[in-house]
Amino acid sequence: MAEQQSESLGFGDKHYFLIRRLHSLSGLVPVGVFLCIHLMVNASILLPGEPGHEFQKAVERIHALGPVLKPVEILGIFVPLAFHALLGFQIIFSSQSNAQQYRYGSNIRYTLQRGTGMIAAVFIVYHVWQMHWLGARLGGGEFALHDEAGRATGALTTAMLIQQSVWIAPVYAVGVIATVFHLANGIWTSLITWGITIRPKTQRGAGYACTAFGIALTLLGLGALNGFKRFDIQSRPVAGAETSSTHATH
Ligand code: HEM
Repeated sequence: MAEQQSESLGFGDKHYFLIRRLHSLSGLVPVGVFLCIHLMVNASILLPGEPGHEFQKAVERIHALGPVLKPVEILGIFVPLAFHALLGFQIIFSSQSNAQQYRYGSNIRYTLQRGTGMIAAVFIVYHVWQMHWLGARLGGGEFALHDEAGRATGALTTAMLIQQSVWIAPVYAVGVIATVFHLANGIWTSLITWGITIRPKTQRGAGYACTAFGIALTLLGLGALNGFKRFDIQSRPVAGAETSSTHATH
């Protein structure tokens, strides 16, 4: 009877535990780790010295991976992110609860985790379309590390895209806040998922640590956004870059 039942179960039901663990893991590593690195690199726009110079240097270091960069990005970031997001939507729309995690917490955070996941999904699609080379075929992908003459335009093109319209910076602010909340609250729930914080007291302690982490990462993200919003695109400060050239080499 039990054998018959297990035969009639689909792949998702049979491996439900493993799939949920992979969902949790993918949110932490690589997606969560990438988010932290990404926001730290962006925050280098705030470092003193020639405006945008440190940001340019940080992005140059990433692009030094050369032909390895694209496969690393696709396999190491986009595929795990797509897996996490698609399964996230499946969890949301099939209303699978994780009441265990929220037994001692609030229902509000349970709802916020799902809401911020959906906001993050929309924001990430918009952001990738607007800046990443993947969006180039669809009229986006306008971040350019160098222009055609080889001049450094990383900070400049980012600032131009953020300053293009008055609504772009607020959209980024909402996207950053939602995504960082999702990660910080997700770290808190994942500590329960992985059996690390079991007692209510330990979970409370982890709650304080995750809140502090979330606030610090939000400040870093919003600080970077403000740096690009205030970047003087008229002064062409980065290696004599032209403000008119956004469609350039990536
Ligand atoms: C930068 C993007 C993202 C990061 C860093 C991230 C990270 C995380 C983490 C760490 C968790 C906790 C896993 C656990 O409780 O064990 C989580 C949970 C969750 N994520 Fe994401 N996530 C991201 C994007 C998304 C997107 C786009 C969706 C799509 C809706 C989504 C939906 C969910 C859902 C529904 C949960 C709760 C799962 C549950 O109840 O067990 N996430 N995420």
